[in-house]
Amino acid sequence: MKRIKILHLSDADAPMDKVLVKGWVRTRRDSKGFSFIEVNDGSCLKNIQVIADENLSNYEEINKISTGSAVSIEGKLVASKGGGQKWEIQAEGVDIISLAPESYPLQKKRHTDEFLRTIAHLRPRTNKYGAAFRIRSELSYAIHRFFRDRGFRYIHTPIITGSDCEGAGDMFRVTTLNMDHVPVADGKADYAEDFFGKEAKLTVSGQLEAEMFALALGDVYTFGPTFRAENSNTRRHAAEFWMVEPEMAFCDLDGNMDLGEELIKELLRFVMKECKSDIELFARFVDKQLLGILENIVASDFVRIPYTAAVEILSESNKKFEFPVKYGSDLQSEHEWYLTEEHFNRPVIVYNYPKEIKPFYMRVNDDDATVGAMDVLVPSIGEIIGGSQREERYDILEGRMKETGLPKEEYWWYLESREFGSVPHSGFGLGFERLMMLVTGINNIRDVIPFPRTPKNIEF
Ligand code: 4AD
Ligand code: MG
Repeated sequence: MKRIKILHLSDADAPMDKVLVKGWVRTRRDSKGFSFIEVNDGSCLKNIQVIADENLSNYEEINKISTGSAVSIEGKLVASKGGGQKWEIQAEGVDIISLAPESYPLQKKRHTDEFLRTIAHLRPRTNKYGAAFRIRSELSYAIHRFFRDRGFRYIHTPIITGSDCEGAGDMFRVTTLNMDHVPVADGKADYAEDFFGKEAKLTVSGQLEAEMFALALGDVYTFGPTFRAENSNTRRHAAEFWMVEPEMAFCDLDGNMDLGEELIKELLRFVMKECKSDIELFARFVDKQLLGILENIVASDFVRIPYTAAVEILSESNKKFEFPVKYGSDLQSEHEWYLTEEHFNRPVIVYNYPKEIKPFYMRVNDDDATVGAMDVLVPSIGEIIGGSQREERYDILEGRMKETGLPKEEYWWYLESREFGSVPHSGFGLGFERLMMLVTGINNIRDVIPFPRTPKNIEF
């Protein structure tokens, strides 16, 4: 028997005499002498309508096919005469791969996002989540393409690490010690007996290691999972999330802002063009403003204002904030939203933050009070990028490490990079799930990552 290639429904664009389609049944209904089966193969939003007529030898079994069952269909792909779909298959053979029982939870009706989170292993079979995760895949590709087109090299920075890049101390521990009998020395856990012979954590950022490669290969980036044990149960925070981190040698804060703006615009343009039908689903059913928001971002020049100016705008606004604004404290999400949505109604880059509220590695400005930090804020999300120019001067970096209480012995290699051939360099981290939330309008981070990890939640 001649083997026929499986047709992906996303590729159905012309009549074909013989096609093979494999997928999952969304619905089935009978009509006199026919069974109409809606099949989806996950390649695109559209189902294909399969018409099975009563002359098929297994017609009795076909009539028992239930929602959620897996099938393999052979037949003719023809233009559909009925409304609603462009193509249909006149089946010559319907192979039932497996029948789903009636308890299949995704019967044809709307389900809440909260319910679908409890069946995260099945939710990609719905229209909405199928679309979201196809977009996630396309966006990942677009990120690699963006950097490759500009000569950046892709670096795989370690997941297990000894260094706390952000100095926030909210890291997950990695250990093989027996938790029921932890070895003790001087009243404390004895990590000398642990796998690595010292404390190990899951990384919060690949930045410090990426910097070492920027100082060797020029422009580089990492794109991988990062972990934070922040106990904040918000719609924007996950304990495991993906970050895109470019790092550019011979680049100052202005160049860094340019790259951030260019990256966001290019990625939005890409999904609007390449994921058109999936994005349309979100624009119709999830956020009616979505296309307007995306087009506005692509068309605007991002506002660039120093932190002090941002604080001024916020204090002069008549808005009642839950957390009052004052110089020297970090911007809260309500402040970010006010700036980007209400005041400017476009993306805003806030730069030059007080050094006290930022990590040790950011470059100290001439005023000795602020550092060359930058946060990119976008409507509906707030902070999507955090980055900075890095402190390239050995003595100042060493002083900042002392001030912020970072042990020099552990960061000797980082300091040493400033001793040998140090150059001005800059980079940032783009939260990949926040980008996903922006492009889909999905308002909870738990719904843009396949299996979300948040406080007290590690199912699947
Ligand atoms: O601002 P952050 O903490 O910056 C860094 O980690 C730098 N080391 C990056 C760099 O310069 N290479 O994090 C960067 C971005 C944030 O702007 C946000 O979009 C995202 O990562 N992010 C989170 N996303 C989801 N859940 C969390 N808990 C996140 N924490 C940060
Ligand atoms: Mg940040």
